[in-house]
Amino acid sequence: MNYYVLTLFPEMIENGMNTSITGRAIAGGYLSLETVNIRDYSLTGNGRIDDYPYGGGAGMVMQAEPICRAYEDLVQRIGTEPRVVYLTPQGRVFDQRMAEELAREEDLIFLCGHYEGVDERVLEEIVTDQVSIGDYVLTGGELPAMVMMDAIARMVPGVLSNQESGQYESFQDGLLEYPQYSRPEEWRGKQVPPVLLSGHHGNVDRWRRDQSLLRTLKNRPELLARVELDKKDRKYLQSLLDRTKTPRLVSAAPDDDGAVAAVLTEEEQKFLAKLLAI
Ligand SMILES: C[S@@+](CC[C@H](N)C(=O)[O-])C[C@H]1O[C@@H](n2cnc3c(N)ncnc32)[C@H](O)[C@@H]1O
Repeated sequence: MNYYVLTLFPEMIENGMNTSITGRAIAGGYLSLETVNIRDYSLTGNGRIDDYPYGGGAGMVMQAEPICRAYEDLVQRIGTEPRVVYLTPQGRVFDQRMAEELAREEDLIFLCGHYEGVDERVLEEIVTDQVSIGDYVLTGGELPAMVMMDAIARMVPGVLSNQESGQYESFQDGLLEYPQYSRPEEWRGKQVPPVLLSGHHGNVDRWRRDQSLLRTLKNRPELLARVELDKKDRKYLQSLLDRTKTPRLVSAAPDDDGAVAAVLTEEEQKFLAKLLAI
């Protein structure tokens, strides 16, 4: 995977990406990174690349021509016309599925905006994808570009070592990941759930699946609504409802789920009852 970043702050991208796992992947040749400083394509030759917005209003706008020149120079040099992602709070919200899709590309160009953003005409001219990393406004597109490059890089073969490459991660099957524990078995009076110490792989897998269902129900119910539930999933979710309605049963199986499972809020109960009725 070859990343190219059009930016006003190349050092920010380079410092971030050359650190930790992505840094190792770049050094190992699994990823490549080239930053292009848009200021080098300033029309005035003094590094200025912004101007006042037509129609008035606060802030400055990045001009179309320096960005377009930086882009044209880049594609001429690399000899291909990769997809160009403009980072913007107005774009489609980035998620794991988009990361998987973009990881199939060989080259990607990221365009990082600043100030009030970028002259609309250059977006029409060169941008193929407008992407947001969430419903909030940041000062620039560099952090969002790094968020995207990091998530995409995890799917590029060789970037993660065997130990790092989780077979199961949040979102991979539409659910959030189950809770994780490491040594010691008891920490400040809190025990690791006994099933994880049992050595029974079937039970561990079932417990993890149940915990994923529970977490997703509690934290991101809208995701649960989109997941295909099998018989065992439904049985577990039904048991949550039953246990909430019959508190006596809660204490009968505290080790299965811990306290968090014991009580569903009214909203969660309603959501689950509706889901299981389908
Ligand atoms: C202050 S923002 C401009 C926001 C713009 N005036 C608007 O309201 O849509 C400056 C730059 O930060 C980047 N940015 C800010 N928030 C972002 C987000 N949530 N996702 C992706 N990029 C973002 C974009 O590149 C944007 O051009």
